[in-house]
Amino acid sequence: MGREFTALFDEWSESYDRTVAGEDVEYREVFEGYDRILEAVAERVSGTVVEFGVGTGNLTEKLLAKSDKVYGIEPSEGMRREVLKRELPMELLDGDFLEFPALPSSIDAIVSTYAFHHLTDVEKERAVALYSQLLAPGGRVVFADTSFASAEERHEIEQSALEAGFLNLYQDLRTEYYTSLEILNKLFMGHGFTVSFTRLNRYVWLLEAVKLA
Ligand SMILES: C[S@@+](CC[C@H](N)C(=O)[O-])C[C@H]1O[C@@H](n2cnc3c(N)ncnc32)[C@H](O)[C@@H]1O
Repeated sequence: MGREFTALFDEWSESYDRTVAGEDVEYREVFEGYDRILEAVAERVSGTVVEFGVGTGNLTEKLLAKSDKVYGIEPSEGMRREVLKRELPMELLDGDFLEFPALPSSIDAIVSTYAFHHLTDVEKERAVALYSQLLAPGGRVVFADTSFASAEERHEIEQSALEAGFLNLYQDLRTEYYTSLEILNKLFMGHGFTVSFTRLNRYVWLLEAVKLA
């Protein structure tokens, strides 16, 4: 589910790492501090970790430095091919945020970077409900993704992309399912999590949700 962007990622897979390194001027601000953003997610988790939307495996590599076991779930065949080239000691699975192969009963954390916006808000709620069942009390969800602190901020960011002539970025901002901190807060609290947010760059916020007893 929520797989309508998979073909785009198949195409993007070979050049993706050049984009995150800042080669594409339109997306430079979105990926500003990319390495630090992935570190911020990886340093908050340990034990058995499930990662959604693995991409080329950049976050996975950081997770493996301190986690016991990483299950990486990725719907794009092109991206899975890129991850396999790295020969990481992980379980790489074909799946998405909502549909994935059976996972072990004991999961400590669920993580993702730059991917949760591929789900509509209705799908996001279904995903959060699922993760609430997968995690025991104290389990964590740590996501870093583009989100907006307010409707005004969203408008201002969209307008500045348009004015800079960044039409691909503008189109993404208007057609993918970027959401607000308010909605994310409501979704996670509604499914038994405490939630906190930290801004990581102009676009990206870190969401840290802890499952309550
Ligand atoms: C912008 S890339 C981010 C990759 C990586 N996490 C990173 O931070 O560099 C988004 C990733 O999410 C994946 N994706 C797209 N739709 C998805 C879905 N419904 N469920 C899980 N992953 C999805 C894409 O195939 C792609 O690998």
